[in-house]
Amino acid sequence: MRRILMALFVLAACSKAPQQPAQPSAPEQKPATAAPAVAPILDAPDATDEHSHARPREARVTHVALDLTTDFAAKRIGGTATLDIEAAPGAKEIVLDDKGLEIRSVTDAAGKPLAWTIGKPDPILGAPLNVALNGARKIRIAYRSGADAGALQWLNPAQTAGKKQPFLFSQGESILNRSWIPTQDSPGIRQTWEARIVVPAALKAVMSGDKLTPDGEAADGKTMAGGARAFRFRMDKPVAPYLIALAVGDIGFKSLGPRTGIYAEPATLAAAAWEFADAEKMVAAAESLYGPYRWGRYDILVLPPSFPFGGMENPTLTFATPTAIAGDRSLVSLIAHELAHSWSGNLVTNATWNDFWLNEGVTTYIQSRIMERLYGKAATDREIALEWDDLQSDMKAAGGPASPMTKLHLDLKGQDPDEIATGLAYEKGAAFLRTIEGTVGRARFDAWLRAYFDGHPFQPMTSSVFLADLRTNLVRGDAALERKLMLDRWVYQPGIPPNVAPPPTQAFAAVDAAARAFTKSGTAAAVPFADWSWSERLRFLNGVPRALPRPTLDALDRAFHLSQTRNSEVLFAWLKLALANRYDPAVPAAEHFLTSQGRRKFVQPLFETLLAQDGWGRPIAQRIYAKARPTYHPVTSGTIDKMMKG
Ligand code: BES
Ligand code: ZN
Repeated sequence: MRRILMALFVLAACSKAPQQPAQPSAPEQKPATAAPAVAPILDAPDATDEHSHARPREARVTHVALDLTTDFAAKRIGGTATLDIEAAPGAKEIVLDDKGLEIRSVTDAAGKPLAWTIGKPDPILGAPLNVALNGARKIRIAYRSGADAGALQWLNPAQTAGKKQPFLFSQGESILNRSWIPTQDSPGIRQTWEARIVVPAALKAVMSGDKLTPDGEAADGKTMAGGARAFRFRMDKPVAPYLIALAVGDIGFKSLGPRTGIYAEPATLAAAAWEFADAEKMVAAAESLYGPYRWGRYDILVLPPSFPFGGMENPTLTFATPTAIAGDRSLVSLIAHELAHSWSGNLVTNATWNDFWLNEGVTTYIQSRIMERLYGKAATDREIALEWDDLQSDMKAAGGPASPMTKLHLDLKGQDPDEIATGLAYEKGAAFLRTIEGTVGRARFDAWLRAYFDGHPFQPMTSSVFLADLRTNLVRGDAALERKLMLDRWVYQPGIPPNVAPPPTQAFAAVDAAARAFTKSGTAAAVPFADWSWSERLRFLNGVPRALPRPTLDALDRAFHLSQTRNSEVLFAWLKLALANRYDPAVPAAEHFLTSQGRRKFVQPLFETLLAQDGWGRPIAQRIYAKARPTYHPVTSGTIDKMMKG
């Protein structure tokens, strides 16, 4: 029904726009002299983005100016998007991406209507929005987001930490921003942007760019009870459009250092600032490895507990889950990861989602280098060893070492990139870089990687261009080295090549010995749990047998207060083990965990574990989910809905 109404609305709107004669340019406008300057890398054979309707060689967006007002009652954001366009001579139209946008009008800069049509929507990609240019090089779209904009999460006060004000945040990656911004939503089509965001006076807006009005300015908000404030932002570096991000809520700020600070709800601010106090040092460490941090400030926004991800590398403003606040700074590798994306992902960006590993694999490698600089090799080796275990289990889950899903370069045509929920891009990608590092030596590899960032700043990247750069600047025709590295095999073949750098096997020698002794004796007294880091505790919990008798679980919980741990990763490992053994005493802790945060990585496996214990676990799962579901983000509840039905 909604779709039909929408179609009628669109038809009516179209018929109002006068049909313009299809001429290349209006007389008052300067005729274009050259084709749009798409990045040369987009000519690479693997640079065609199957997840966007845009045709950037004909016409491309170079700048987006948003002037939007939030409507918390209707759960919509709307206003205008003004796009700067570069077009080839004779280009008649520009194609944008649109997912459920309600478009009111499209005009040129002078307000003259332009003809536009919405093509057939694809369930994954959304629809092409075709605008006849009629010579215009600036177009203005008046619109609002649809009812179920995938990028937007509108939280009611109960879903926040403070419980008093509503909250809005956006999540653009991978192909969601087209549900609130009418632009060419392809990571290879970089755009500068600016925005003015009008919000209720009690709230604050933050975005992934320079904050021009940190405290906002009075705005005309006749429709908003209590008045309205406007916040202005600017990103003057060309970025992939999935990196445009917005959050609105009762948000406070605490400075951490000259370039770093924390944004969070007041209820979370102090704990978050303490937890992530090393952010400033992390920026310095990353710079010493990979060259200048080019984004000005590095701030962190800690989101309400329903944020479905761990973190998101929005430029100048990482979005982070509050589940990383363990109270002891143990989970700060998440910040190192999102910061690392300031080089791999935001500076040099996968041109298509088939090369997601260029974002996440390179970042996972850099993350460990930042961690090593700050916290030493031993602690970092433990995290790398955990990653190795994940690599093995993700390899199995993806169908084993022969499965095409285990390649680094993927073919995601026809698939939703966000549904390819696999850690392989991260773990296999990082293992690949560690293998090269181990083969050529750290000094040589570091010099190459730094030059790679310096050589392609603010550019898209593909697997083929990445490998060509490696061959030109690192291998340099050394045939023996070329054979040793197995570059093509790593990127284009499934499985893990035999030259893989060995994992740090000694990292957990003592922990594994303790787990074996515990397995034999069933007594927890000799396990030095209290002396261990979080990664050692995690390894231990994942290393004991999956089936444990009740007295043993009692002993574990009593000795280590597992149900009370504030480290979300350790709690998660414990709850998985306990629930798989139908251990009733852990149910209240599980219920609390599942109703106080909505990070999908934790929520999904725990419900899975409960459902697998059919007679015992299903009623528990149903009871907890009834309570938890209204607090979850659609990314999380969508996944759990499917599981509960199945
Ligand atoms: N860029 C990702 C998050 C993402 C990936 C969002 C794909 C949408 C689609 C981010 O950098 C990330 O990897 N986050 C991880 C945490 C990280 C420490 C591994 C997460 O959210 O779990
Ligand atoms: Zn990442």
